[in-house]
Amino acid sequence: MTTILITGANRGIGLEFAKQYAAEGADVIACCREPAKAAGLKAIKGKVRVMALDVGDAASVAALKKELGDTPIDIVINNAGVSSPKAKDGAIDVDAWLAAFRVNSVAPALVAHALKPNLMKGKDKKLVTLTSQLGSIADDSGGFQPYSATKAAVNSLMHSLAKNWAKDGIVVGIFHPGWVQTDMGGSGAPVKVADSVKGLRARIAELDAAKSGTYRDFENRPLPW
Ligand SMILES: NC(=O)c1ccc[n+]([C@@H]2O[C@H](COP(=O)([O-])OP(=O)(O)OC[C@H]3O[C@@H](n4cnc5c(N)ncnc54)[C@H](OP(=O)(O)O)[C@@H]3O)[C@@H](O)[C@H]2O)c1
Repeated sequence: MTTILITGANRGIGLEFAKQYAAEGADVIACCREPAKAAGLKAIKGKVRVMALDVGDAASVAALKKELGDTPIDIVINNAGVSSPKAKDGAIDVDAWLAAFRVNSVAPALVAHALKPNLMKGKDKKLVTLTSQLGSIADDSGGFQPYSATKAAVNSLMHSLAKNWAKDGIVVGIFHPGWVQTDMGGSGAPVKVADSVKGLRARIAELDAAKSGTYRDFENRPLPW
């Protein structure tokens, strides 16, 4: 039995991860800010434990860790993310920028460090973070400040963790899900959420020491940093 923890699991890509992993018989720890309102998660048939987690709140992460105790976790998926208001010349909303960095860049590291002991007890030892192609500096179109910067930052942090934790046997996946039909991606996005998650699950299944710390999309295309 594989135990998988997913952040931001109440809608979008996170909810689809919970559905697909539960359907294959995994033990799913589905984390979200408001479990009482997580109707989509409660409707899933399978082993789904819904737990409260605001990834941007260190006290919430600590409370989750306390509740989990020493539970072995095989795969941790940092999925929760936010888009951000685009930059306007001469009018940067500092609080909005920092809020986006808090959730997209700092929180995945916070969750990873808090749950490292649980990963160490798991058999797979896989840490996965959903980033974006928009985090690629090499491919930057210039149109998505500060969202792109939050994802470039998390790419760097996860790349470093892959190096730092290789000695512990933890492997790190840094995956772009495609442009996906969710609240964030919008209804005009070309990729269906079920197809994105099917691809991401394949990427997670094949994640190993050789691939750890590389930046790829859901169809296994390597992306330039
Ligand atoms: N959709 C795309 O085209 C696309 C493309 C590239 C990358 N991504 C990345 O893929 C991931 C999932 O995106 P999505 O399309 O599924 O987005 P989404 O539909 O907007 O869902 C975002 C999820 O993150 C959760 N979340 C946001 N802030 C949180 C916080 N502080 N604590 C806990 N959960 C929080 C939301 O919970 P609430 O319901 O409580 O707000 C929601 O469950 C994100 O990291 C995103 O950046 C998406």
